[in-house]
Amino acid sequence: MSFLQLKNIEKFFGDHRAIKGVDLSIEKGEFIVFVGPSGCGKSTLLRLIAGLETIDGGNLLLDGKDITHAPSSKRDLAMVFQSYALYPHMTVAENMSFALKLAGEDKKVIKEKVEHAAEILNLTRYLERTPKALSGGQRQRVAIGRAIVRAPKVFLFDEPLSNLDAALRVQTRVEIAKLHRELGATTIYVTHDQVEAMTMADRVVVLRDGAIEQVGRPLELYDRPQNRFVAQFIGMPQMNMLPIGEFGSYAESLVRPLPVGGHIGVRPEHVTITNAGEGQLLATVDFVESLGAESLVYATTPHGVQVVSKQSVRSSVRAGDTVSLKFEQDWLHVFDADGQVVSNAKGVAK
Ligand SMILES: Nc1ncnc2c1ncn2[C@@H]1O[C@H](COP(=O)(O)OP(=O)(O)O)[C@@H](O)[C@H]1O
Ligand SMILES: [Mg+2]
Repeated sequence: MSFLQLKNIEKFFGDHRAIKGVDLSIEKGEFIVFVGPSGCGKSTLLRLIAGLETIDGGNLLLDGKDITHAPSSKRDLAMVFQSYALYPHMTVAENMSFALKLAGEDKKVIKEKVEHAAEILNLTRYLERTPKALSGGQRQRVAIGRAIVRAPKVFLFDEPLSNLDAALRVQTRVEIAKLHRELGATTIYVTHDQVEAMTMADRVVVLRDGAIEQVGRPLELYDRPQNRFVAQFIGMPQMNMLPIGEFGSYAESLVRPLPVGGHIGVRPEHVTITNAGEGQLLATVDFVESLGAESLVYATTPHGVQVVSKQSVRSSVRAGDTVSLKFEQDWLHVFDADGQVVSNAKGVAK
């Protein structure tokens, strides 16, 4: 049996069905990331697990115990929010020890736990400061420290890096991943950022409109998306998605029978710019982004579909050029009219 089990979980806000029968099994020690666009229900699902919202249907089990209706304080979970929610008048040490103090823990034990957490998080030098004398990244580490001292069965994070600037976000992301390796604690982490999901997760849960679209290891989602939504949500720049009609008779050599109203998806790294006659589609270049190590060429087909090509060589094409786009045959994904996958790229190593 799994460590944390969600069985057909439902949540309504009035008439609005915010969570639609979610099933998920999480193993002990896993780092799970919930990812999806804003409003898809990530925070709601996390809050249901935390006991901060009531579950309207289904069951939640932790370590074999039904906690569907257990109060938050009895669930043995610790949550870290986007807003750090630190007590401004307390020092770092006091902030981190507050919950243990409330629980009546022994003073000496509290001191040991706080010092240990501070050491892990590189906060030892700041223990006597108040939050206003800390940077955003340090405050977020204090919030994480407050969760660590409680040694919960599961850590829950809701977009903890959103308030940090880009450089600090990358650094803190690496720290949280390292922390997970050290503590080995079961973690559920919510983000709208697919890069965070791809880099941190053991398994990613892609949510859309209150339901799970796909669950898998990061590269599994990248290589074998089960539908158009996942295909385009994971990966930057996103997967090109062309109506099958764009390809004319060429499409018939790819898949039979052709799904009427379907699409062909291909990632930007599998589209190259070639001489006329060598590719499958002509297109007009809109603009070129030269990033140094790679170039992104944005071009539009005669039917008005924009295609992105990612090249590891510096591109000599310019806006207004007519180019021929070559799609690598082994790297095409085919989707039916409902957006469900018909076949994923053959090029993916088995
Ligand atoms: N307390 C609430 N009352 C009413 N609607 C809510 C409440 N919390 C969330 N919602 C709605 O539920 C949906 C999911 O919200 P949320 O879980 O916050 O999304 P996410 O975290 O993925 O951005 C949204 O449509 C949101 O407006
Ligand atoms: Mg949210």
